[in-house]
Amino acid sequence: MIKVDSLTKRYGAFTAVDDVSFTARPGRVTGFLGPNGAGKSTSMRVMVGLTPATSGYAEVSARRFADLPNPGLEVGVLLDASAQHAGRTGREILTIAQRTMGLPAGRVDEMLERVSLTPTESGRRVRNYSLGMRQRLGIATALLGDPEVLILDEPANGLDPAGIRWMRDLLRGYADQGGTVLLSSHLLHEIEVIADDLVVIGNGRIVAQGTKAELLASAGTLVRTRDVPTLSRALVDADVEFSPMTDALRVEADPDVVGQVALRAGVALTELRAADGAGLEEMFLELTADTQREGVAA
Ligand SMILES: Nc1ncnc2c1ncn2[C@@H]1O[C@H](COP(=O)(O)OP(=O)(O)OP(=O)(O)O)[C@@H](O)[C@H]1O
Ligand SMILES: [Mg+2]
Repeated sequence: MIKVDSLTKRYGAFTAVDDVSFTARPGRVTGFLGPNGAGKSTSMRVMVGLTPATSGYAEVSARRFADLPNPGLEVGVLLDASAQHAGRTGREILTIAQRTMGLPAGRVDEMLERVSLTPTESGRRVRNYSLGMRQRLGIATALLGDPEVLILDEPANGLDPAGIRWMRDLLRGYADQGGTVLLSSHLLHEIEVIADDLVVIGNGRIVAQGTKAELLASAGTLVRTRDVPTLSRALVDADVEFSPMTDALRVEADPDVVGQVALRAGVALTELRAADGAGLEEMFLELTADTQREGVAA
């Protein structure tokens, strides 16, 4: 279990993380989703004690990270996979971690096998690793102490499609056995396929959270037509609420109702379907657009 309560992190006058609260539960994969610069890595660094919070706190297994006697046995962490010591081999890095945590030596080979790093690859220096190999080594290090909690910052970064599938299955299996998984991503679809719960962050603030089912469902109907003004008027007349999306309308009613309204108004539709996920996607696109505008202004 991970509990984050009113977490705020400021750098001078800039607020990178603004009053963030959420819980990541055992047996579930919690996706931490947000565009570049949203505050995901900063939040995670605070969770694992690498950066002090300005206010608020984060707890792993009901304790602050700094109070965990042997953190590697409680929480597996993968932050920046490129931060591994480049001059050491993968096997050396794992062996050092295994000794630090007081684990049996056989654990190293077990983990290398688990992440499919061959003996040749694990004998290579990390500076010669591909990004995907670094991610695998990072996962191996995180899993080494068989912790109950995993905190992974963009673990799919640099993995090919087969690697992403592998990672997804691994994390799924881990959560199914009762583990708590928190993983970040700036890609909605990457998170959508694996997460049970979602925490969406933008400009340091949480903009949505809940189960994936909740966030993706009940978004009403998505409807497209070449004649938006006529359909809009008909929806207003029928007292049905709707909001314009980039190139469609999202209507707070069943497709059946929307089809009837369109038929009565004589409007030809080019698309009519339940808007599962459309609300989340639109919100995420708006967040991304906002940060891009800020990036330009800065
Ligand atoms: N040490 C620091 N000093 C000043 N600003 C910082 C520092 N660390 C992070 N920031 C700022 O905090 C904001 C959030 O950064 P963070 O790395 O947490 O974003 P992120 O959500 O992980 O983004 P990405 O998807 O690009 O990894 C950014 O604007 C970043 O520039
Ligand atoms: Mg980041």
